[in-house]
Amino acid sequence: MSFERILLVGFMGAGKTSVGRLLAERLGWRFQDFDDVVEERAGRSVAEIFEQDGEDRFRVLEAEVADELLRGHEVVLGSGGGWAAVPGRIEAVPAGTAVVWLRVDAREAVRRASEQPGRRPLLAGPDAVERARILLSGRAAVYRSAPFGVDTDGRSVEDVTARILEVLAESGTPDEPE
Ligand code: S3P
Repeated sequence: MSFERILLVGFMGAGKTSVGRLLAERLGWRFQDFDDVVEERAGRSVAEIFEQDGEDRFRVLEAEVADELLRGHEVVLGSGGGWAAVPGRIEAVPAGTAVVWLRVDAREAVRRASEQPGRRPLLAGPDAVERARILLSGRAAVYRSAPFGVDTDGRSVEDVTARILEVLAESGTPDEPE
């Protein structure tokens, strides 16, 4: 595989972090998660940043971290669900980046998110599935511009990871012989 980095995109609960960690392990690469780096730098959780400074400020911090991490080599990156939902971002990633959309439906996203309570302010409170549906229906058209896509509903982290490796190996790249 001649990609230098893999960027996982998709909705909250798609498995970007858990799959990203295993994928990096399989490749002998590093894993970095946008949210983790934002939290480390801010010294606060994502939920605290949302609550104290507002979502707009979080988005600024997230964009700064993304620009920096996307310069790394031999790294798997887990983006936050909102970062790749901004039109044009996926198309603008540096050359050598394989962008993979991990697909998940709203119900499953909320089920997975509920396993880590307090981590996702946008899915907090009642009617989370309905809110996830609305958010996801707006975002899916943008996530879809990722060159690679893998379904995650009903699949284990191991299966999804294996499928990503398969899809990327099958893809060939311009500098590989036919
Ligand atoms: C968000 C997704 C979260 C986190 C923040 C906002 C979103 O990351 O960045 O809560 O807008 O979809 P995950 O996708 O890793 O849950």
